[in-house]
Amino acid sequence: MEKNLNKVVVIDAVRTPFGRAGEKGIFWKTRADDLIVGLLKALMERNPRITPDMIEDNIWGVTNQVKEQGGTIGRVVSMLAGWGYGIPGCSIDRMCAGGLTAIGFGTAYIASGMADCLIAGGVEHMGHLPMGFMRDPHPRAEEVMGGPSAFNMGMTAENIHERFPEFTREMADRYAAQCQAKADRAIKSGKMKEMIIPIEVELADGTVTVVDRDQPPRPDTTVEGLRGLKTPFRENGNVTAGNASGLNDGATAVILMSEARARELGVRPLMRWVATAVAAVDPTVMGIAPVPATQKALKKAGLAMEEMDIVELNEAFAVQALYCLDRLGLKWDDPRVNKWGGSIAYGHPLAASGPRLVAFLAGLFKENPVAKYGLSTMCVGRGQGYSMIWENLLRK
Ligand SMILES: CC(C)(COP(=O)(O)OP(=O)(O)OC[C@H]1O[C@@H](n2cnc3c(N)ncnc32)[C@H](O)[C@@H]1OP(=O)(O)O)[C@@H](O)C(=O)NCCC(=O)NCCS
Repeated sequence: MEKNLNKVVVIDAVRTPFGRAGEKGIFWKTRADDLIVGLLKALMERNPRITPDMIEDNIWGVTNQVKEQGGTIGRVVSMLAGWGYGIPGCSIDRMCAGGLTAIGFGTAYIASGMADCLIAGGVEHMGHLPMGFMRDPHPRAEEVMGGPSAFNMGMTAENIHERFPEFTREMADRYAAQCQAKADRAIKSGKMKEMIIPIEVELADGTVTVVDRDQPPRPDTTVEGLRGLKTPFRENGNVTAGNASGLNDGATAVILMSEARARELGVRPLMRWVATAVAAVDPTVMGIAPVPATQKALKKAGLAMEEMDIVELNEAFAVQALYCLDRLGLKWDDPRVNKWGGSIAYGHPLAASGPRLVAFLAGLFKENPVAKYGLSTMCVGRGQGYSMIWENLLRK
């Protein structure tokens, strides 16, 4: 990267627990904007040297920008948090990578000198605002995007199975079962505790309770159990509820700062931004896009895939994760990849997932003092991939 840019660091990363979308979900009666408010307050409480007046922008990725998620959620939430009128904010959309793009734009912002400290995050309440809600695609959209399957993410995953038959249903189920097992180990050993901010909610039956655990993980998952599941996106297909990410609600937030300002404040940063890249591919196989995005990011960073000690790859679907890992030269069960499990287990509240990858990377850097570089990468509906490379600042 250009060497005269300001160095950008991550100071902290927090998230809500992730919920299942719908009436049985923990956030059925909680608004998307209220998911964010608790995170903003927690970031200030956890980092007492940083105060709201230092936040120069509040950049939020959110896919469906209507109803409770509309009206520039990034601006309103700071006032809801009690921070007064003085904190600017915005909302941006790159679907699943909306939150990662918020972080990407935030780093670029600080690197260029436009700001020294900001919050970037992602939120999605898929229970209240389902995928495609109130969208009005152009009459030629199907034609220019390669067909109707480009609009249905499950079908894009079926297309990958069809186009690259070396990635089988058996492999996808094995990958999904492994993901659930890794998540279960991470949860049981307390890895989520440091990043999850408990939140009081009212459940559908009126019970008021504090939730501090992710709702989607299914620790009892077995390959045998997955084998019997239906394939809702294609008759006799390969993609199931078990080897896909689910429909979820949640939010994740990160404090970004210039390294110089962090030093001035005496705040210990977790990791330093190295490179960002976005790439675009055929929308009907959108899940393959992390490959060109990562290759571009590695090139910008002057690094090789072998130098990535930790890889956080969003698992929209097992098959696209398998494809991406293979094409990036990694084995499906490489211990550097999604060590704490991924979206197949935790859920994928669209724009909240990119920052979740960054939060996981920060946590993994912390527990792995010899790791130097890490990658966060994800695919995006309509055929995009977004990758960011980071350097561990907690290295011994
Ligand atoms: C795949 C999908 C349609 C499934 O939705 P759903 O039917 O509401 O999912 P459920 O959680 O009810 O699971 C369906 C069934 O599979 C079972 N199941 C799910 N995960 C399982 C697991 N790990 N092990 C065993 N069974 C499992 C459920 O118990 C349920 O069984 P039942 O029908 O007997 O009750 C939905 O999750 C989806 O659309 N995912 C993709 C989201 C997406 O596109 N995101 C964007 C990515 S770019």
